[in-house]
Amino acid sequence: MRAGITTVAHAAVAAAIFAAQPVHGFWRMRCPGRTGVARMDPLVEPGAPSDHAHTIHGGNNFGFDTGYDDLMASDCTSCAVTQDRSAYWTPTLQFVYPNGTSELVGQTGGMLAYYLLFGENIQAFPPGFRLLAGDTLMRNFSFPVPDPPKSSWSGDAATQDALRQKALGFNCLNYDRDPEATLYRHTMPSKQYLDDNCANGLRLELMFPSCWNGQDLDSDDHKSHVAYPSLVMDGDCPEGFEQRVPSLLYETIWATQDFAGVEGEFVISNGDPTGCGYHGDFIAGWDEDFLQLAVDTCTNPSGNIEDCPHFDIQSEDDCRSCKFTMPSELDDDDCEGPREGLPGNVPIQAGPEYASKVSPGDEETFAPSSDDATSSLPVATHMPSLGYSAGTRIATDNYGEATDLIVAEKQQSTAEPAETTPLPTLDDIQAVSEEEEDSNAVTTTTYTSAGIVYELVIEEVEVTVTATTTAAVKHRRHVHHHNHHHGAHF
Ligand SMILES: *[C@@H]1O[C@H](CO)[C@@H](O)[C@H](O)[C@H]1NC(C)=O
Ligand SMILES: *[C@@H]1O[C@H](CO)[C@@H](O)[C@H](O)[C@H]1NC(C)=O
Repeated sequence: MRAGITTVAHAAVAAAIFAAQPVHGFWRMRCPGRTGVARMDPLVEPGAPSDHAHTIHGGNNFGFDTGYDDLMASDCTSCAVTQDRSAYWTPTLQFVYPNGTSELVGQTGGMLAYYLLFGENIQAFPPGFRLLAGDTLMRNFSFPVPDPPKSSWSGDAATQDALRQKALGFNCLNYDRDPEATLYRHTMPSKQYLDDNCANGLRLELMFPSCWNGQDLDSDDHKSHVAYPSLVMDGDCPEGFEQRVPSLLYETIWATQDFAGVEGEFVISNGDPTGCGYHGDFIAGWDEDFLQLAVDTCTNPSGNIEDCPHFDIQSEDDCRSCKFTMPSELDDDDCEGPREGLPGNVPIQAGPEYASKVSPGDEETFAPSSDDATSSLPVATHMPSLGYSAGTRIATDNYGEATDLIVAEKQQSTAEPAETTPLPTLDDIQAVSEEEEDSNAVTTTTYTSAGIVYELVIEEVEVTVTATTTAAVKHRRHVHHHNHHHGAHF
């Protein structure tokens, strides 16, 4: 039932891999539906409409003041595991025309929340645990591009501020070539770059801090009770934050290709065209003992929730039909558009300076006069551009027939690339969702040990059951799943 995709027998490689802190299993929480899109943010702006719009997933008992007990009282979840009533939300991606009209970009396949089990003695999120990743007011990225080897991160480049900026990813999706690495690019590619290169859209990635102070369920800024480990995903926790919790990684895919050739720009709903202000929120909605059981035992490196016997898995239709009740205050709030300006009239602030806070519903907005044919949007001209680079693999080594966790090693100083085979990517789950594909996945990250740059690849490997394919999807059909998968299109 399984087939290694690329196997390079190489003893030295295997030894290095084991030295390099592989993830101790993980699971990939699919949330094929969203409970809604709305200006709500019970974490940062409780009690009233938030300034910007969010795409929201998880437990449906979600509103202006949601807490743990509310989520646990949800009557459904938009995620695949019925025991998970957590709330997951991020800003939306909007397309803004030169005249200031905006509309919601299509979101492909819902979202994925990875629960990566990095580190030792991982403690389940206790009731009431919540946190925020990212900084909505950031508008520049002030470190070298692309990331230098992680072994060289020190000083300013290793502060929590720096790790936070490197915890964002903008993955240019193009299934005709090998995938970019997760968290490779930390800023939004330009519209032109997206048009020219990203035929299958843009995947927004967000890594959450996974080192906790072991005491506080939240903090004033929703961040200072937690910290990033030294390498963003893995690495060491800073002093005072030694308690590991599951490492969350959110992924949402946006159909930017629908706007190819159309004049305008992509702007995150918080008024950010740079991507640096991308962020996300989490309120745990798990029974603590149950989640601890999952953390301790759902360590199958396939990452498949189906491989964890404790999880009850519901159909995609059930996920997609789970919605929150829109508060009447937001009845007239048209987040989807087309509408004048961004939802909530958030002004576009392109930076590079730190953005100024906006209050919900401020009248100020970017709305150039319609007679002014030459008006143009505030564009982030200061942003670095980063070209395509295949993320991965070079050499892979399957360790253990029983496992599907594959760790790929790449020695960047070696000119000779090993033979590679295109792997199924996480993108396949979502973007190919109208076809009969299922959750073949790969996610990658790089880390450095003893001066060698490694890439960690987590993939699901399935046996080939290739039927007829079209040229466009052919390389992804090397692996084919037994289940049929019909993805969400909102
Ligand atoms: C703005 O431009 C878009 C795209 O050309 C158009 O569909 C929309 O109607 C315009 N909005 C206004 C208010 O003129
Ligand atoms: C980049 O953002 C930081 C953090 O907000 C700010 O201190 C700095 O001044 C900004 N850089 C520029 C060139 O504006």
